[in-house]
Parts: sequence; C-alpha cells; structure tokens
Amino acid sequence: MKIHPMPVYKNYMRRNLFPPFYVAHFFIPSLHILYKMKIALIGYGKMGKTIEQVAIKRGHEIVLKISSANKQYTDAAHLKLADAAIEFTRPESARENVLKCLEAGINVVCGTTGWNETVEDACQFAINHNAAFLHASNFSVGVNIFFEVNKLLASLMNSQPEYSVAIEETHHTQKKDAPSGTAITLADQILSNISRLKSWGLNNADNSEILPITAHRIENVPGTHKISYTSAIDTIDIIHTAHNRDGFALGAVLAAEYIAGKKGIFTMKDVLGIK
Ligand SMILES: NC(=O)c1ccc[n+]([C@@H]2O[C@H](COP(=O)([O-])OP(=O)(O)OC[C@H]3O[C@@H](n4cnc5c(N)ncnc54)[C@H](OP(=O)(O)O)[C@@H]3O)[C@@H](O)[C@H]2O)c1
Repeated sequence: MKIHPMPVYKNYMRRNLFPPFYVAHFFIPSLHILYKMKIALIGYGKMGKTIEQVAIKRGHEIVLKISSANKQYTDAAHLKLADAAIEFTRPESARENVLKCLEAGINVVCGTTGWNETVEDACQFAINHNAAFLHASNFSVGVNIFFEVNKLLASLMNSQPEYSVAIEETHHTQKKDAPSGTAITLADQILSNISRLKSWGLNNADNSEILPITAHRIENVPGTHKISYTSAIDTIDIIHTAHNRDGFALGAVLAAEYIAGKKGIFTMKDVLGIK
C-alpha cells in the first residue's frame, strides 16, 4: 500500500474536523477533497475566472482575487487568509508572486508559463520555507497523458533516423510567450529521448540537429499541440486539442487539493498517479 504524506493536523483543527477524520485520511488519501479549502487566486484573468468557477463547484471558497490593479494585496496578511494559492498571471510576475506565497507559508500551484529559467529557484525556496509548490506548463489531464505518449513515441523513434520530427502549436493572440510552455515540455521530452537532436529552435528548420517548433497565434483558440514524424514513406502525427479552458482549471484545482497539508515539490504526475 502506498502511504501518502498526511495533511498537517492543524489544518484539520482549523476546519473544526475531528481527529477521526485525520485518522481516516490515512486510509483514504483522497479524503482531503471532502473539506473546503480557502483559495487565493493570484491572476484573475481568463484562467483565474475559470478556476474560480471550478473551485466553487468543488465546494471551495475564493478568499482573495488579485490582478494588476490590486496586486498590493499580495502580501502576507492577505495571503494568510487562504489555505492555498493558485497563480496564473504573466511570465514577468510569476516568480515574485510564488515567492511571496511561499514566504507566507502558503502552498502554491502555479500555471504561469514563460519563466522556466527561475522555476528551479522557486522550488528551492519552497523547500527552504517548508511549503509545497507545484508548477506545471499544462494542467490538463489529457495533456499530461499526451506527455507520456510523446515520451514513448520519441523513445521508439530514437532508432529510426529516417524520420524528421517537428512540433507545431496554436494559441490565442493574447498569449504572451512563444513557444508555449507545453511545447517546450514536449520538446524537452523529445530531446531527452532522441539522441540525434541537440536542441529546439523556434521557427528554425535549417539544421537536422535542431527540433523545429512553429508557433501560430489565432483569435479565440484555447490551444493545440501537434508532433509530426515524417519520412519519405509516411507521417505519424499526434495531436492534442483543448476544447476550452475547463481542463486546465480543473487540473489546477485538483493540484491544490492534492498538495493541501503537504510539503515539498510536486508535479502533475503525482496528482494523476502517473508512475
Ligand atoms: N499551465 C496551464 O495549464 C495553463 C493554461 C492556460 C494558461 N496558462 C498560462 O497562465 C498564464 C495566465 O493566462 P490567462 O489566459 O489567464 O492570462 P490573462 O487572461 O492575461 O490573465 C492574467 C491575469 O494576471 C493578472 N496580473 C498581471 N500581472 C500581475 C501581477 N504582477 N500580480 C497579480 N496579477 C497580475 C492580470 O491582471 P490585469 O488584467 O489587471 O493586468 C490578469 O488578471 C499565462 O502565462 C498562460 O500562458 C497556463
């Protein structure tokens, strides 16, 4: 039996739950979703608003909503009103927001993409501050399964040099970063599995050692990622198409529920139980 780390006792006491509930959690790790969390939403744009709807449907309460106009409230006093923070803002503000939450002792789930260089830093900060942190370039359950398919296909293609590989991603025009964080995760997985490729390049198909990523920006589309392996004989495509933002929002709320009462660094693989 896999023993899951137990939520800290004080969280149960804060919610007026009896010790038997705590004991029951030991045997039923998903029991934590039965209690209501107080959530701080840092970033109240397209994702923040969708997460709000999903969180409320799952019985949680939103106690803080932050956007650029009221970002001065991202301080310890306000953050401590929440059990967890969910951060979806912009690449330039994500690190600072995440560190503020961790410093206040609040667990954070962050979906903001485009700040990969300093995510590692934030992980170390979370460990130093005894809090939990989960960053994912994509919270959708489907995409996380797609990641596993991508790794498997790339490992099979390592010994098939006649196939060239390319990634294409399409997002809405307001998306600030390109390529998408998801495309970068897919590219990193391919690079780890195909030894003839050395790096990825945006719109760069000139060198056989570079994995080309093409980024399209089109009005009102939630996001598509396509990986193509092409030889003179045939093409294999794998495609993930998001139909709306609900999948990302649900994944972010599931992640916040999963890290409740835990400490350390987690990934969506932990949340989804992918080995
Ligand atoms: N990981 C995933 O599964 C996933 C899925 C979808 C999107 N994303 C990423 O999530 C991020 C947000 O996406 P979105 O579509 O929700 O963007 P959005 O609609 O532009 O919303 C961004 C929000 O962040 C706020 N904000 C900007 N700077 C801030 C700061 N310094 N402090 C606090 N709030 C601030 C904005 O406020 P104002 O509008 O007032 O400026 C707005 O409310 C992007 O990086 C996107 O790529 C990730």
